[in-house]
Amino acid sequence: MTAGESHPLIVAIDGPSGVGKSTVARRLAERLRVPFLDTGAMYRAIGLKVLESGADPHDRKMVVALSDAADVRLGRRPDGSFEVLLDGEPVESRIRTPEVGEATSAISTYPEVRQRMVRLQREAATHFGAVLEGRDIGTRVFPDTPYKFFLDARSDVRFRRRFEELQATGQPVTYADVEEDIRRRDLRDSTRIDSPLTRDDSYVFIDASDLSVEEVVERMAREIEGE
Ligand code: DC
Repeated sequence: MTAGESHPLIVAIDGPSGVGKSTVARRLAERLRVPFLDTGAMYRAIGLKVLESGADPHDRKMVVALSDAADVRLGRRPDGSFEVLLDGEPVESRIRTPEVGEATSAISTYPEVRQRMVRLQREAATHFGAVLEGRDIGTRVFPDTPYKFFLDARSDVRFRRRFEELQATGQPVTYADVEEDIRRRDLRDSTRIDSPLTRDDSYVFIDASDLSVEEVVERMAREIEGE
């Protein structure tokens, strides 16, 4: 909550894969002194659960049953950010693989899964305020917040960024794999029926292709602080 405001501060950052939303959202949250919530990690927790149980991510009935049974909660890290817990355990170290990304893109098309995640996101953020990043934060989760940003970048910049991220974690990926993976997910995320990735005039659009993380954060903070 910022000084003088009676409502918790809610900042929505939406945009496609590999655009650097998490890094920017985390830094912005630190600057604004509100928690950071990576909503993609919540969907990834369900994707992980589905893969670990051996189910087919395209089997909607099975996925919805697994999702209903999964204990997904949001804990708090020492730095104040939200941490996704699946059945009591932190999931962060297990959800960043291309396999989990692909399964997650499929399971996040199901409205039953989305409703549950949206409810958890609203509960957590309404209480403390938050910078939330995802695909539907400004369109569905908090459509009334005045602070909405759509972060985008040229596709070659996004492919390279995600490729370097995965390489840095020692995963055996090729650039071509990453490119194909992101293209497929972009298409699915923006064409699904329930809460597709989209933006309207209520968003501030930022093309991050040629901007540093600091520059993007600065631009957002100025917009919020009204400078
Ligand atoms: O941002 P990410 O790559 O961690 O997201 C993983 C998947 O989850 C992605 O395919 C889209 C989906 N997602 C979503 O549908 N809605 C959100 N608010 C966040 C992520």
